[in-house]
Amino acid sequence: MTEINNIIKSKLNALSECGVEVSLFELKLLMADALDIDINNLRFYKDRPTQEQINKFEKHIEMKKNFWPVDKILGKKSFYKLDFEVNCDVLSPRFDTEVLIDETTSLFEKSKKLDILELGTGSGCIIISLLDEYKKASGVGIDISAKALEITQKNAINNNVADRLTLVNASWFDNDIEKKLSKKFDIIISNPPYIPSDDIKHLDNEVKNFDPMIALDGGIDGLRDYRRICLIARTLLKEGGYLVFEIGINQANDVKKIASANNLLLIKIAKDLGDIERCVILKK
Ligand SMILES: C[S@@+](CC[C@H](N)C(=O)[O-])C[C@H]1O[C@@H](n2cnc3c(N)ncnc32)[C@H](O)[C@@H]1O
Repeated sequence: MTEINNIIKSKLNALSECGVEVSLFELKLLMADALDIDINNLRFYKDRPTQEQINKFEKHIEMKKNFWPVDKILGKKSFYKLDFEVNCDVLSPRFDTEVLIDETTSLFEKSKKLDILELGTGSGCIIISLLDEYKKASGVGIDISAKALEITQKNAINNNVADRLTLVNASWFDNDIEKKLSKKFDIIISNPPYIPSDDIKHLDNEVKNFDPMIALDGGIDGLRDYRRICLIARTLLKEGGYLVFEIGINQANDVKKIASANNLLLIKIAKDLGDIERCVILKK
């Protein structure tokens, strides 16, 4: 076993003794970052780590002990086909959200010149992935958090879609939101905050202490933002346009009812890789 492997193994044991859940893969990511190499090259790495590299790894481990999520220690996360910068101003992109990209890219031909609106961009993982798939599309992303939009903008530049993405710092509860956006869209997509307020305290430390509360708290029943978004989507969607939602566990029936009260037609409910209903597709 190489020296690097020994260090990683000892930290795996030490962290589990402290009650911190971390996988071997995550520790390898932290080590690869400290050594400044690609994770795929870690098993071929035979050099002795320098003191500076060990110090950096130890710093990562200290953060992990304080429940920092690995992507927020590294400042980056992969989502769908791209890499995204992240910090504590944005929700860490989740693999469960990737089903929204799979489903949305099956709605229209890739060559179409679409207008796409994302409500609540955060890191930008959804709208930027869609613009990367639909090369002729234009996007508008809104977020109530100006700090989150700084990260969206950086990610749009790094992933070469900034020239097709307009960012707006606004709330979907603004009375003039339809006027502010001033056009209609083929696709509106949103992963709104959907955790019922009282459930927030039960979330893992990695989530409740490091993802922004504004990205998590969906009001008393977790459905506050679905009600508002379905209402404004009636005006903001083109005829025949689609509204695509991420939903939380067991929210499909409630979201279906809210959509139907707003005359939006249910097209599909898609499951994530964990077999949980995660994506609702509606049509105007
Ligand atoms: C669950 S996060 C989703 C972030 C990103 N789209 C993703 O899927 O990883 C919800 C986002 O909506 C934003 N948000 C919350 N309430 C909002 C509101 N009333 N108007 C606009 N954006 C809002 C939050 O700042 C956050 O970035």
